[in-house]
Amino acid sequence: MPGNDRVVFRTASIEERVDAIQDALEARGLKAGEAVEELSHKATEEYVPRNGARIVARAWVDPEFRKRLLANGIAAVAEMGLPMPKHHRHLVVLENTPKLQNVICCTLCSCTAFTLIGLPPDWYKDLQYRSRVVRESRTVLKEMGLQLPPDVEIRVWDTTADTRYMVLPERPPNTDGWSEEQLAAIVTRDSLIGVARLPGT
Ligand SMILES: [Fe+2]
Repeated sequence: MPGNDRVVFRTASIEERVDAIQDALEARGLKAGEAVEELSHKATEEYVPRNGARIVARAWVDPEFRKRLLANGIAAVAEMGLPMPKHHRHLVVLENTPKLQNVICCTLCSCTAFTLIGLPPDWYKDLQYRSRVVRESRTVLKEMGLQLPPDVEIRVWDTTADTRYMVLPERPPNTDGWSEEQLAAIVTRDSLIGVARLPGT
Protein backbone atom coordinates (compact mmCIF):
# COMPACT_ATOMS: atom_id res chain seq x y z
CA MET A 1 0.00 0.00 0.00
CA PRO A 2 2.03 2.95 -1.21
CA GLY A 3 1.81 5.90 1.08
CA ASN A 4 0.97 3.79 4.10
CA ASP A 5 4.25 1.94 4.42
CA ARG A 6 6.19 2.87 7.48
CA VAL A 7 9.82 1.94 7.86
CA VAL A 8 10.55 1.15 11.47
CA PHE A 9 14.17 1.43 12.47
CA ARG A 10 15.34 -0.62 15.36
CA THR A 11 18.78 -0.62 16.92
CA ALA A 12 20.22 -4.12 16.91
CA SER A 13 20.84 -5.62 20.31
CA ILE A 14 24.41 -6.14 21.53
CA GLU A 15 24.05 -9.88 20.81
CA GLU A 16 22.92 -9.23 17.24
CA ARG A 17 25.78 -6.83 16.67
CA VAL A 18 28.32 -9.27 18.10
CA ASP A 19 26.91 -12.05 15.91
CA ALA A 20 27.13 -9.81 12.83
CA ILE A 21 30.78 -8.93 13.54
CA GLN A 22 31.59 -12.56 14.22
CA ASP A 23 29.92 -13.67 10.96
CA ALA A 24 31.85 -11.03 9.01
CA LEU A 25 35.16 -12.17 10.52
CA GLU A 26 34.42 -15.86 9.96
CA ALA A 27 33.47 -15.07 6.33
CA ARG A 28 36.99 -13.71 5.88
CA GLY A 29 38.58 -16.81 7.35
CA LEU A 30 39.30 -15.36 10.81
CA LYS A 31 38.38 -17.75 13.58
CA ALA A 32 36.52 -15.30 15.75
CA GLY A 33 34.42 -17.99 17.42
CA GLU A 34 37.46 -19.82 18.71
CA ALA A 35 39.08 -16.61 19.93
CA VAL A 36 35.91 -15.60 21.80
CA GLU A 37 35.68 -19.07 23.32
CA GLU A 38 39.29 -18.95 24.45
CA LEU A 39 39.01 -15.45 25.86
CA SER A 40 35.83 -16.16 27.80
CA HIS A 41 37.43 -19.30 29.23
CA LYS A 42 40.41 -17.22 30.37
CA ALA A 43 38.16 -14.50 31.74
CA THR A 44 36.16 -16.89 33.90
CA GLU A 45 38.82 -19.46 34.83
CA GLU A 46 42.17 -17.67 34.81
CA TYR A 47 41.64 -13.95 35.32
CA VAL A 48 40.29 -14.19 38.83
CA PRO A 49 40.76 -12.07 41.99
CA ARG A 50 42.14 -15.20 43.64
CA ASN A 51 45.42 -14.36 41.83
CA GLY A 52 45.67 -10.97 43.50
CA ALA A 53 44.68 -12.53 46.82
CA ARG A 54 47.56 -15.03 46.57
CA ILE A 55 49.99 -12.19 45.85
CA VAL A 56 48.77 -10.22 48.86
CA ALA A 57 49.06 -13.26 51.14
CA ARG A 58 52.61 -13.89 49.96
CA ALA A 59 53.51 -10.25 50.59
CA TRP A 60 52.12 -10.50 54.13
CA VAL A 61 54.19 -13.55 55.06
CA ASP A 62 57.37 -12.85 53.10
CA PRO A 63 58.93 -9.39 53.67
CA GLU A 64 61.53 -9.90 50.95
CA PHE A 65 58.82 -10.71 48.41
CA ARG A 66 56.87 -7.66 49.60
CA LYS A 67 59.89 -5.45 48.89
CA ARG A 68 60.28 -6.91 45.42
CA LEU A 69 56.56 -6.55 44.77
CA LEU A 70 56.57 -2.87 45.70
CA ALA A 71 59.75 -2.24 43.67
CA ASN A 72 58.76 -4.07 40.48
CA GLY A 73 55.29 -5.57 40.43
CA ILE A 74 55.52 -7.31 37.05
CA ALA A 75 58.71 -9.18 37.98
CA ALA A 76 57.41 -10.17 41.42
CA VAL A 77 54.07 -11.57 40.21
CA ALA A 78 55.88 -13.48 37.44
CA GLU A 79 57.76 -15.29 40.24
CA MET A 80 54.39 -16.64 41.29
CA GLY A 81 53.61 -17.89 37.80
CA LEU A 82 51.35 -14.95 37.02
CA PRO A 83 52.68 -13.25 33.89
CA MET A 84 50.84 -10.13 32.75
CA PRO A 85 49.82 -9.22 29.18
CA LYS A 86 52.55 -7.49 27.19
CA HIS A 87 50.71 -4.19 27.01
CA HIS A 88 50.61 -4.04 30.83
CA ARG A 89 54.11 -2.64 30.98
CA HIS A 90 54.07 -1.65 34.66
CA LEU A 91 52.33 -3.04 37.73
CA VAL A 92 52.37 -0.58 40.61
CA VAL A 93 51.37 -2.13 43.91
CA LEU A 94 49.96 0.41 46.36
CA GLU A 95 50.43 -0.37 50.02
CA ASN A 96 47.69 0.68 52.40
CA THR A 97 48.49 1.77 55.95
CA PRO A 98 46.21 2.70 58.87
CA LYS A 99 46.38 6.32 57.68
CA LEU A 100 46.35 5.75 53.91
CA GLN A 101 43.74 4.22 51.62
CA ASN A 102 44.65 3.72 47.96
CA VAL A 103 41.85 3.44 45.41
CA ILE A 104 42.04 2.48 41.74
CA CYS A 105 39.96 3.71 38.85
CA CYS A 106 40.17 4.26 35.11
CA THR A 107 38.70 7.65 34.31
CA LEU A 108 38.73 6.92 30.56
CA CYS A 109 37.16 3.49 30.39
CA SER A 110 37.69 0.28 32.36
CA CYS A 111 41.40 -0.54 32.48
CA THR A 112 42.62 -2.56 35.41
CA ALA A 113 45.13 -5.29 36.21
CA PHE A 114 42.45 -7.77 35.16
CA THR A 115 44.68 -10.84 35.13
CA LEU A 116 45.21 -10.34 38.87
CA ILE A 117 42.04 -8.61 40.05
CA GLY A 118 39.55 -10.20 37.65
CA LEU A 119 37.54 -8.45 34.98
CA PRO A 120 36.28 -5.08 36.18
CA PRO A 121 32.88 -5.12 37.87
CA ASP A 122 30.08 -3.10 36.23
CA TRP A 123 30.28 -0.28 38.79
CA TYR A 124 33.99 0.18 37.99
CA LYS A 125 33.07 0.88 34.35
CA ASP A 126 30.23 3.20 35.28
CA LEU A 127 30.73 6.88 34.45
CA GLN A 128 29.45 7.78 37.91
CA TYR A 129 32.25 5.87 39.66
CA ARG A 130 34.93 6.92 37.18
CA SER A 131 34.20 10.61 37.56
CA ARG A 132 33.04 10.88 41.15
CA VAL A 133 35.72 8.75 42.82
CA VAL A 134 38.24 11.35 41.71
CA ARG A 135 36.29 14.44 42.76
CA GLU A 136 34.58 13.16 45.90
CA SER A 137 36.37 9.98 46.81
CA ARG A 138 35.42 10.03 50.51
CA THR A 139 31.73 10.29 49.69
CA VAL A 140 31.87 7.58 47.02
CA LEU A 141 33.68 5.19 49.35
CA LYS A 142 31.12 5.92 52.05
CA GLU A 143 28.29 5.14 49.62
CA MET A 144 30.05 1.86 48.83
CA GLY A 145 30.15 0.96 52.52
CA LEU A 146 33.63 2.15 53.44
CA GLN A 147 33.48 4.96 55.96
CA LEU A 148 36.98 6.25 56.65
CA PRO A 149 37.92 8.51 59.55
CA PRO A 150 38.81 12.06 58.41
CA ASP A 151 42.50 11.54 59.26
CA VAL A 152 42.83 8.69 56.75
CA GLU A 153 44.23 10.06 53.51
CA ILE A 154 42.67 8.74 50.28
CA ARG A 155 44.80 8.51 47.16
CA VAL A 156 43.07 7.77 43.86
CA TRP A 157 45.14 6.25 41.07
CA ASP A 158 44.04 6.60 37.46
CA THR A 159 44.99 3.56 35.40
CA THR A 160 46.54 4.05 31.96
CA ALA A 161 46.93 1.71 29.01
CA ASP A 162 50.37 0.59 30.11
CA THR A 163 50.37 1.15 33.87
CA ARG A 164 48.14 -1.05 36.03
CA TYR A 165 47.60 -0.86 39.76
CA MET A 166 46.71 -3.24 42.58
CA VAL A 167 46.11 -2.31 46.19
CA LEU A 168 47.95 -4.19 48.93
CA PRO A 169 45.46 -4.15 51.80
CA GLU A 170 46.58 -4.27 55.42
CA ARG A 171 46.81 -7.64 57.06
CA PRO A 172 43.97 -8.07 59.55
CA PRO A 173 44.91 -8.49 63.22
CA ASN A 174 44.55 -11.94 64.79
CA THR A 175 45.87 -13.72 61.72
CA ASP A 176 49.29 -14.61 63.20
CA GLY A 177 50.44 -18.03 62.16
CA TRP A 178 47.88 -18.37 59.37
CA SER A 179 49.04 -20.17 56.25
CA GLU A 180 49.32 -18.30 52.95
CA GLU A 181 46.30 -20.21 51.73
CA GLN A 182 44.21 -19.19 54.74
CA LEU A 183 45.29 -15.58 54.31
CA ALA A 184 44.54 -15.55 50.58
CA ALA A 185 41.01 -16.76 51.31
CA ILE A 186 40.14 -13.57 53.23
CA VAL A 187 41.37 -11.09 50.58
CA THR A 188 38.45 -9.71 48.57
CA ARG A 189 38.35 -8.27 45.06
CA ASP A 190 37.08 -4.95 46.39
CA SER A 191 40.03 -4.68 48.78
CA LEU A 192 42.37 -5.12 45.79
CA ILE A 193 40.62 -2.21 44.06
CA GLY A 194 40.65 -0.20 47.28
CA VAL A 195 36.93 0.39 47.78
CA ALA A 196 36.87 -1.89 50.82
CA ARG A 197 39.12 -2.72 53.75
CA LEU A 198 39.50 -6.12 55.34
CA PRO A 199 37.82 -6.87 58.69
CA GLY A 200 39.63 -5.37 61.66
CA THR A 201 41.75 -2.97 59.57
FE1 LIG B 1 40.49 2.17 30.76
